[in-house]
Amino acid sequence: MLSMDSSLHIEVTPNTDPVSPERLAEILDAPGFGNHFTDHMFRCEWTPDRGWHEPRVVPYAPLSLDPATAVLHYAQEIFEGMKAYRHEDGSVWTFRPEENAARMVRSARRLALPELPVDTFVASVDALVRTDERWVPQPAGEKSLYVRPFMFASEAFLGVRPAQHVTYLVIASPAGAYFAKGVKPVSIWLSEEYTRAGRGGMGAAKTGGNYASSLVAQQEATEQGCDQVVFLDSGEGRYVEELGGMNLYFVHDDGTIVTPETSGTILEGITRSSIIELCGKLGHHVEERPVSIDEWREGVGTGRVREVFACGTAAVVTPVGRLKWRGGEAGVDETGPVTAQVRTALVDIQYGRAEDTFGWMHRVR
Ligand code: PLP
Ligand code: COI
Repeated sequence: MLSMDSSLHIEVTPNTDPVSPERLAEILDAPGFGNHFTDHMFRCEWTPDRGWHEPRVVPYAPLSLDPATAVLHYAQEIFEGMKAYRHEDGSVWTFRPEENAARMVRSARRLALPELPVDTFVASVDALVRTDERWVPQPAGEKSLYVRPFMFASEAFLGVRPAQHVTYLVIASPAGAYFAKGVKPVSIWLSEEYTRAGRGGMGAAKTGGNYASSLVAQQEATEQGCDQVVFLDSGEGRYVEELGGMNLYFVHDDGTIVTPETSGTILEGITRSSIIELCGKLGHHVEERPVSIDEWREGVGTGRVREVFACGTAAVVTPVGRLKWRGGEAGVDETGPVTAQVRTALVDIQYGRAEDTFGWMHRVR
């Protein structure tokens, strides 16, 4: 059974057929997002009698699953998303990994999955990133290694109950900009037909089902020529929740910065909470409160809302340009000064260009 201490022994089986240095250089030159995977993956399993066991790093390979594997039927699955950054001196760091670990514990509780100890989570990410260190890109162009820890019901059983066999894996993929056009304002489609999560639902958990349910709305956004979709609350259809994979911020003309409060239906983004602290340091006041869609729609028209930006691990801080809905649109395609300031302050910490006064960075190598 895995203990909570950091002396966890992780067996490493090297990949005997790793990607060639020439091919790796090509991949790291233009990684895109989520297209290429490193030479290894971390793996361990859970059963009620053994707890988490056999933590190991093994060659990256397809999984073999029984067709009755529970996750394929009932979607008992959770995941995390984080990045490893290379600094100019060659060292490699992750950003607040214990926060991802803690969120995975909260997601596990909601999905009736076993809790993975925070230390084990951090050790699993460290082990994979160390093994595949050559896959962490140079910092130029804000490239990084995106790390995807995930856990799923691996028991072959068709009854509806929490699985008694669970698999935890970590894979990694070099990443450039999440949006193909780079750091340019993105356009947002307002979903009025679909919601993402309701009271008592899974909105605060990072689970595949939330993303599955967002796809048809994202499809609608794409058809409308927009980059992303924004969801409203399921109760009144009035309050802004979040984008398909990012949280939102609004900069008002009096300098106040507002972000929708987390009330169990949106993901508690680690970028979101870091920005609250960062804004405090930059001298901005952040309010967490309900934000109505009219406040956004009308605010960008009257100038009351000066800037809108989205944030998340994959998207970092991305300016939001236009908001489009059935029958209208509003907004300007510019990156505002506060958005730019927050973005720079955050990425400078992540890439080691600014002092990490918050103690957010975790050295891996
Ligand atoms: N909201 C959703 C639905 C997401 O998928 C993400 C991405 O992880 C976020 C918000 C931002 O969270 P974080 O900043 O922890 O990456
Ligand atoms: C992340 O930012 O880590 C996410 O999981 C978002 C996803 C849309 C890639």
